[in-house]
This record gives sequence, structure tokens and C-alpha cells, in this order.
Amino acid sequence: MKSLRLGVLLSGRGSNFQAIQDAIERGELGASIAVVLSNKKEAQGLARAEAQGLTGIFLDPKDYVGDACPREAFDRAIVQVLTAHAVDLVILAGYMRIVTPILIQAYQGRIMNIHPSLLPSFPGLHAQQQALEWGVKISGCTVHLVTEGVDEGPIIIQSAVPVNEGDSAETLSARILEQEHRIYPEAIQLYAQGRLQGQGRQVQILHTQEQVGR
Ligand code: GRF
Repeated sequence: MKSLRLGVLLSGRGSNFQAIQDAIERGELGASIAVVLSNKKEAQGLARAEAQGLTGIFLDPKDYVGDACPREAFDRAIVQVLTAHAVDLVILAGYMRIVTPILIQAYQGRIMNIHPSLLPSFPGLHAQQQALEWGVKISGCTVHLVTEGVDEGPIIIQSAVPVNEGDSAETLSARILEQEHRIYPEAIQLYAQGRLQGQGRQVQILHTQEQVGR
């Protein structure tokens, strides 16, 4: 079977990217990282990628401010790079930009994101802090497909994480992050195996070979 080519988009630390790359190296993922793209030159994730011999590319949003629609022009450039690297599946891993329809339509149903809450609770920024302020007893993380609404796409996998008394945003984030590192590679592997079947908001995980072959 042809190995899935991933294009990772990130803006920061890159621990999810690293978890995916580690799963690939352990032979747990039928995929390879074709390119890591960042909108931040100083992103630690970009440096990590380059240090591991992966192709890392920085695209500067400032280069597109003169365009009629800068966000779309930037995403057009992203699509060009992804296409040039024959990317099959786009992985948003701490990518701090709202993606436009240019990218979403070019990779319809082939963009995943991870979010540090049990969506649809607490979309947007500082999800762990939002969860603490709301006083929920359980939070977690969600891998979902990316659609035009922020953090709104069909859910692939979620993992629940208890909120402990005395948790700070940092301690809760750290506990959630462990689960992120587990479920993101898992969701990618399900995709690579052709085991995700979407219908509207529902994503069914196919369990038997017979179901997959259908
Ligand atoms: C993670 O918490 C992820 O859920 C959110 O951004 C953070 C990225 O962390 N979308 P890292 O850059 O993967 O370490």
C-alpha cells in the first residue's frame, strides 16, 4: 500500500508534530512527513523538523500583505507547497492561523486539526483556561476534520481528561497534551488505513476488513 504523505502546518513548539514523527519512526504509522510548513520563522517545531532531516519551510505572511486578499494569497502559497510535495493529508499541529476556503477546498476532507478540549465545548484560543473557568470536571482533546467554521468540523477521536482540584492551565494542559500525542497519530493511522468513513457530521470508524473493502 502506498504510504500516506503528510504536510504538517505549525506555528510553535511542535510537540504534536514530534509525536507523529515518533510514531512513524516506531513503525506505527503508514505515513511519512513530506513537508513541515510554518508561518513563524522562530517556531521550535520548524527547527525540530530540520534537525531531523525533514523538509521545513517558512512562509512569511508579511510577503502577502500587499495582495487584494492577503489571507487567501497566503493560503494559495501554502497549497502550492503542499501540492509540490505531493501531500495527501494536511495536519494542523498548533497552527495559529485561521485557514481560508482556498486551502479547505484544495484539500476537502483531507485536513485534520487537534484541539485541547472536548469540542464543541471551548473552541478557539486558551481552551484549557476556558474549561477551568467554566468549572467543568472533565475536559480533554479532539481530533477533527477541518471545515470553514473554526474548530467545528466532524469529530474523529476524542479523549477525556479529568480536571483535578487545584489544576492550573499549565497542569491541565500537560495532562491533556499526553492524550493529544496518543490520539493524533491514531487518527492519522485510521485515515491511512482507509478506516474513516464520513457522512455529514458523523465519522464512522470501520472495524473489520470487510467494512473497509466495501
Ligand atoms: C496543542 O495543545 C494543540 O491542541 C493546539 O495547539 C497546541 C500545540 O502544541 N491546537 P504543539 O505545538 O503541538 O506542542
